[in-house]
Amino acid sequence: MVIRIAAVGDVHLDKDVVGRFRPALEELPECADVLLLAGDLTRHGTEAEARCVAEEFGGLAVPVVTVLGNHDHQCDQVPQVVKVLEDAGITVLEGNGVVLDCAGGRLGIAGVKGFGGGFAGRCASDFGEPEMKAFVRTTNESAERLGTALRSLDCDMLVALTHYSPVPDTLAGEPLEIYPFLGSYQLGQAIDSAPTALALHGHAHAGTERGTTPGGVRVRNVAHPVIKQAYSVFHVGDQLDTDQVSPIGQSGSQRSWS
Ligand SMILES: [Fe+2]
Ligand SMILES: [Fe+2]
Repeated sequence: MVIRIAAVGDVHLDKDVVGRFRPALEELPECADVLLLAGDLTRHGTEAEARCVAEEFGGLAVPVVTVLGNHDHQCDQVPQVVKVLEDAGITVLEGNGVVLDCAGGRLGIAGVKGFGGGFAGRCASDFGEPEMKAFVRTTNESAERLGTALRSLDCDMLVALTHYSPVPDTLAGEPLEIYPFLGSYQLGQAIDSAPTALALHGHAHAGTERGTTPGGVRVRNVAHPVIKQAYSVFHVGDQLDTDQVSPIGQSGSQRSWS
């Protein structure tokens, strides 16, 4: 039993990018059962940019599931952005999950944007000023919602989808000083609290593709500037533990969007 998952993050669409991914996306049914988007779909989170995302990723022959990224929050138009995406048939997750019936079984996907905070021994703490407590509370609440969603799904294979990273491994290449703004260990704890098969994230454009949670879950940074192609394909299943990189879709530039 194998489920094939295509994924990409940080496509940062605006009018000038529309059409760049589409030829590879049209070939998705040949290699994947679902497409997951790891946030930062837009540059500044405007409704107009969301329409570009809908045009590029809407109406595909496989289900599309996404979380939002920090860029998608920039213009405070999240409700409008979500509506445009959902009207295009894209499922937007934030602290919840969805189960898809794929040929290889029922795929459960739990998603949350996540937040910063840092990693064990180098992290923000719930101490001092109210602003600091609010920062850490946001991190904790986000991770708790991811964990609850992961543990609630009735499925054969479980995948976690976030924008921020759950581990420091996939940040290698980014300046150490900004690790606390790229992810948090609490997301990793949430992923390890359920029988998660694969964790996908974006956000770290200068990071590294592969990592592992303390509990041994495969983590993959699928930010477009990292994978340098339209999407990567991962297989999850009873006996498979391999990544298969899509041979198609050398799409998009390698610009260092953040
Ligand atoms: Fe981001
Ligand atoms: Fe990004």
